[in-house]
Amino acid sequence: MDNDTKPKGKEVSRRDFIKGFGGGALGAAVAPKLLTPGALSVQTGSGEVAVYSKKQVSLTVNGKPVSLVVNANETLLEVLRDRLNLTGAKKVCDRGECGACTVLLDGKPVYACMFLAIRAHGSQITTIEGLASEANLHPVQQAFIDKDGYQCGFCTPGVIMTTAAFLSRNPDPTRHQIQHALSGNLCRCGNYQKIFDAVTEAARKVRGA
Ligand code: FES
Ligand code: FES
Repeated sequence: MDNDTKPKGKEVSRRDFIKGFGGGALGAAVAPKLLTPGALSVQTGSGEVAVYSKKQVSLTVNGKPVSLVVNANETLLEVLRDRLNLTGAKKVCDRGECGACTVLLDGKPVYACMFLAIRAHGSQITTIEGLASEANLHPVQQAFIDKDGYQCGFCTPGVIMTTAAFLSRNPDPTRHQIQHALSGNLCRCGNYQKIFDAVTEAARKVRGA
């Protein structure tokens, strides 16, 4: 997972946010001060950063431009599910452990439950809803149907998004490479062998073999 994608500009990461306010409790030297209405300045170990309670963000979701005001602590997953009604990415652990919330950010898989929406400003987001073309399912989606790569299906959107990104980099993987690529996506049904079979089939489709 690439949840370390660099923040754009001076926006604050979840870690900086927590550090800033955690440090602020220790003394006046790190107390936040008002910069402008709606923006605070907080001293962190890496310097002064702006902290917003709300911020306007613009992003592209499944090819469509979206602009909305988000709370500073609102995650990308909450914005997708609760405000854009894109419920394909699932909220399961909500703590970066299971991968059910995986979406692509500029082509890379991220745990949307661990990614602040303000950090997604200017990014291209692809969710499971945006993977298929108008005429056809994505080859990974079709392979999961063909090979019964799911049981309850709760992990499936995240597994498919991780797989799509993985096969775009490596369309001819070994079984071991598939297992490694999907190590951040947990399946509570334990359907791993069929998932790996589906990814092998998806790779064959992607290669046109
Ligand atoms: S819901 Fe995001 S990693 Fe589990
Ligand atoms: S198919 Fe049920 S959690 Fe994976």
